[in-house]
Amino acid sequence: MTATDTSSSYYQRHIFFCLNKRENGDSCCADHNAQAAFDYCKAEVKKQGLSGPGKVRVNKAGCLDRCAGGPIAVVYPEAVWYSYVDQTDIQEIVESHLKSGVVVERLLTPPDVGR
Ligand code: FES
Repeated sequence: MTATDTSSSYYQRHIFFCLNKRENGDSCCADHNAQAAFDYCKAEVKKQGLSGPGKVRVNKAGCLDRCAGGPIAVVYPEAVWYSYVDQTDIQEIVESHLKSGVVVERLLTPPDVGR
């Protein structure tokens, strides 16, 4: 098995949502409805029968250190970073990327966006 061989992965795809909340007033994903997006994604993945071993896992994450592009979610194994806005965006990520493996180009976090 090589590092890129994902045939034996427990999950086919893994999406992590930053849910970080900053108490000092600095911008954070929690201030941009990240929790609601996470909840929506989890429910959609389940509704579409995509959740479980060999399929898709939706997970919470702390700060992913790309806050300037927030709210942020990242999909592995492709390591594709998304800056989403609303439920329509999450729906598209689920339908296109998580279900079919097609990256949603319009939602990609610009490569130079960091903290
Ligand atoms: S607070 Fe979400 S990436 Fe840092």
